[in-house]
Amino acid sequence: MHHQRLKPFPQDFLWSASTSAYQVEGAWDEDGKGPSIIDTKTDLPEGTSDFTVASDHYHRYKEDVALMAEMGFTAYRFSIAWTRIVPDGDGEVNPAGVKFYHDLIDELLAHGIEPIVTMFHFDTPAALNEKGGWASRTTTDAFVRYANILFDEYGSKVKYWLTINEQNMMIMLGVKLGIIDALTDNPARELMQANHNMFLAQARTMIASHEKFPENKIGPAPNISYVYPASPKPEDVIAADNFNSIRNWLYLDLAVRGEYNSVAWAYLEEKGIAPEIAEGDLEVLRAAKPDFIAFNYYNTSTVADAPFGENPDGRGADADQQIAAGEEGVYKAVDNPHLVKTQFGWEIDPVGMRMTYRAIWDRYRLPLIVTENGLGAFDELTEDGRVHDDYRIEYLRRHLEQTQEAITDGVEILGYSPWTAIDLVSTHQGVAKRYGFVYVDRTEDDLRDLARYRKDSFYWYQELIRTNELPA
Ligand code: BG6
Repeated sequence: MHHQRLKPFPQDFLWSASTSAYQVEGAWDEDGKGPSIIDTKTDLPEGTSDFTVASDHYHRYKEDVALMAEMGFTAYRFSIAWTRIVPDGDGEVNPAGVKFYHDLIDELLAHGIEPIVTMFHFDTPAALNEKGGWASRTTTDAFVRYANILFDEYGSKVKYWLTINEQNMMIMLGVKLGIIDALTDNPARELMQANHNMFLAQARTMIASHEKFPENKIGPAPNISYVYPASPKPEDVIAADNFNSIRNWLYLDLAVRGEYNSVAWAYLEEKGIAPEIAEGDLEVLRAAKPDFIAFNYYNTSTVADAPFGENPDGRGADADQQIAAGEEGVYKAVDNPHLVKTQFGWEIDPVGMRMTYRAIWDRYRLPLIVTENGLGAFDELTEDGRVHDDYRIEYLRRHLEQTQEAITDGVEILGYSPWTAIDLVSTHQGVAKRYGFVYVDRTEDDLRDLARYRKDSFYWYQELIRTNELPA
């Protein structure tokens, strides 16, 4: 439907931006922090930054929060590093780590910024990984204990909680991104067991949050890419439904309804990789109810039928969170001829975001929060100390227009938290792939002075937040 007039953003809309601990903090081994799986990797692609210093936010958080306040943020989404709180994942609590996040949260609240806390963003404690990682229920139990520590410490200050960032990407691409290991001789089956154990951890955590702080709000934060069929050919439509089910609805059906999506379950059985479900698991999954759905949106996917005997994978080594590979007998990923791509090959689809909002709302009828959306680009710091990132402004503007379209369509949207508040290190493409409103002066191998510079998008976002409407 074409709307003649768009509804405004709600008055209490959460204007935010996001980061994650391991990509922004640095100080990877300071003040008692234990190593996470990220810190044990030494095989980062050549020329790509490691995460030891990142944007040095650990030491500069006050300056960074001041910049967020200057932009007018009413919320800020960040993650807590599990290994700062419990260095080996399930042992002693580290008081210095606990204090760091108290200080950060207090700093935000003092500036009138609502913290949105991700409890876990890819950085599994290395010690737990050695004990079998997420494929072992030791990690599930350790996570629930860690979550309870977070609630006891911060539950009276933090209203919005996110359980696990992009569980679907951890499972589907985590091995490639170096954020999950699969070590047995049946890695696909092991990953699906890890997946099930994460669902349980998430469910028990949502239940614990509701018991301890009924007024707080908690939800999952998967990466949702609505999937289009490459054509109206019925087999292509089935392929799109396959990938929608396996990539998207598997994760949200479990989080919201506490049940396995039936197409996804048929796929798991067909491949012989269905997880073991212990007695009582389904009851726990069904008992947990999120208060909202947070999701990360970068683009859509487009797929075609993938008959047996034909190679379904045109992407191979390029596959990542937003560039789907394919799977024989399930779907074949193809380019969408109607979309252009970023400098990193990710298709750009603002209208697909409207479709994604509508699809999630239709299925679950829960309020939505966008916890990531943004443009990774090679920014240039110019002589005037600015970054003229009109391309980023254009990207965000077009996605926010579609957000307003979706609001006008009747979707309940609580807030928008693009990726990222300040520049940080990409999961697998280094510092040069920048997303922030604030430029951090460093390169892959030269830390320079890590000084902060306001990009043009900084001022644009400031104006948007001030007026609560898209600048003309
Ligand atoms: C999401 C992750 O997959 O996308 C972030 O939650 C990540 O951690 C973001 O940084 C952008 O991806 P990338 O690969 O460009 O860093």
